Amino acid sequence: MTRKFYITTPIYYVNARPHIGHAYTTIACDTVARRQRMLGADTFFLTGTDEHGQKIERAAQAAGKTPQQYADEISAQFRALWKRMGISNDDYIRTTEDRHKKRVQELFRAIRDRGFIYKGTYTGQYCVSDELYVDGAQPGDPCPTCGRVTETVHEENYFFKLSAFQDKLLELYANPDFIRPETRRNEVISFVKSGLRDLSISRSTFSWGIPVPDDPGHVIYVWLDALANYITAIGYGSKHAGAQEAFKKYWPADVHMIGKEIVRFHCVYWPAFLLAAGLELPKAIIAHGWLLFEESKMSKSRGNIVRTETILDVLGADALRYFLLREVVFGQDGSFSFDALVQRYNSDLANGLGNLASRTLTMINRYFKGEVPYPSNAASRAPGDDAIIITAHRAIKDFGTLFDQFQFSRALETAWGLIAAVDKYIVENEPWSLGEKQDEDSRSRLATVLYTSAEALRIATALAHPVIPDATAKIWTQMGLGDIKKVALADLAWGQLPLGTKLGEISPVFPRADKSAIERMQQMEEQQKTPAAEETKLPAPAPAAPAPAAPAVTSPDGGGKITIDDFAKMELRVGLVKVA
Ligand code: MSP
Repeated sequence: MTRKFYITTPIYYVNARPHIGHAYTTIACDTVARRQRMLGADTFFLTGTDEHGQKIERAAQAAGKTPQQYADEISAQFRALWKRMGISNDDYIRTTEDRHKKRVQELFRAIRDRGFIYKGTYTGQYCVSDELYVDGAQPGDPCPTCGRVTETVHEENYFFKLSAFQDKLLELYANPDFIRPETRRNEVISFVKSGLRDLSISRSTFSWGIPVPDDPGHVIYVWLDALANYITAIGYGSKHAGAQEAFKKYWPADVHMIGKEIVRFHCVYWPAFLLAAGLELPKAIIAHGWLLFEESKMSKSRGNIVRTETILDVLGADALRYFLLREVVFGQDGSFSFDALVQRYNSDLANGLGNLASRTLTMINRYFKGEVPYPSNAASRAPGDDAIIITAHRAIKDFGTLFDQFQFSRALETAWGLIAAVDKYIVENEPWSLGEKQDEDSRSRLATVLYTSAEALRIATALAHPVIPDATAKIWTQMGLGDIKKVALADLAWGQLPLGTKLGEISPVFPRADKSAIERMQQMEEQQKTPAAEETKLPAPAPAAPAPAAPAVTSPDGGGKITIDDFAKMELRVGLVKVA
């Protein structure tokens, strides 16, 4: 029976247009999904948008639109971007879709019928930006996640008996593969060990959400609504046989990939909801770090985002995909800069894979009329040929192991190690000099060198395909090998390049980028920039105390010092330096 593989991205909030932080998670999932398909798994890759809740309601209000209009617009932007980037998702779920709403209500019912929901009153602090109840906070306290001032909420709510799941969750975390990386797992374990309080799972003071079944004065807490997308999209709670079958086939998810700021929702709340509903648990939750720009987390509210479209326009999707997976150590934070992007592009793609492809294929064209030559008899072999075969086999093995542990950067390093080895091999063997000679020995040596180079190129190209699908598909066609998607990665081995294969038309896949590429991207971003203030049009919650007018820093007669009266007017603030 074919193995199934189900992978998800978080569903993105529709209060902000997509940026490369969102693209990062989507690209990582797309790459994993593509590799799984090439390994023969029946793969389902899900992404979508998270459209309910107070945060979206307020953003829509600030934009003078209805929440639905607003969600329609931004959700369409995400969808269009993924399409433009060739993201291979199998479905795109929106939480405002009927199929989702009905099935979330089914989930709520299942949890309620099993005795894990009760009515109570919540009084406490809430962060609208993170849609997070902040336990133990006082009015005016900042949100521990984003630092914004929390709002006091006092309302009748439905509560979920989260406290009942503490032991079961801790048992679950005993499996080291459930939460990765280790640092996140440890954080979650200590959070759960410190004691779990029951969780409010409905809101009654606004209406932009899914009504609680049988009590429409309440809407379901947006995180319960959003997390449920992972099961509603594949048919949970549906009455249709086809949908039920899909759910049976794909659930539980093999991988939920997320950013590190939403670990608690995925590793504590989500498994507890599933346990309460009597459903199976996902197999792994993989949290990556943040993309930083100008040293802080790239995000709309900080106003430091980089638009994906800018990079697509100038360098293409493969450049961004390769850069993010090669440059950032998965699981850790990583900085983005246009300089680093262009440098990587030139060194690894234009001068690395691109150059290897064009020099190898051009020489096969020139010296063997565009047909893959036969590596010749033992007499024309040299130890360097076998060294390439060994490096190629090691690359296949190590790439697979590292990639399947989500160590994308190291996996790519091994494939590019093979490319570098072949480059060196070509330089040492000087096929262009052999090509000048017509004697039989030189011809057969030339055939061996070019076959060896082409075969190594084929292997590096197949390994890299899930990461840089467009360019590798082009190289594959240029090599005369047909559809690269059909490659069975599990069987990839040396010696499968058919002798005599007729090459296709050759053209460069990664033209070199010069300095102007950096300037162009910077300019495009400058032109697009809207002030952060304009972007965060959320009506601000009432401040805990009225903010005083900005104090004068010096008094004219105080020798550069302020007076005690000025001092009394000052608002002192404490900040935490998160990145230096
Ligand atoms: N809607 C929730 C998720 C619900 S999932 C059931 C949400 N949405 S979000 O729009 O804020 O997207 C968060 C995700 O986008 C992060 O978890 C991460 O995957 C990605 N990223 C957004 N900004 C990012 C960076 N600056 N860096 C890396 N990833 C980032 O939270």
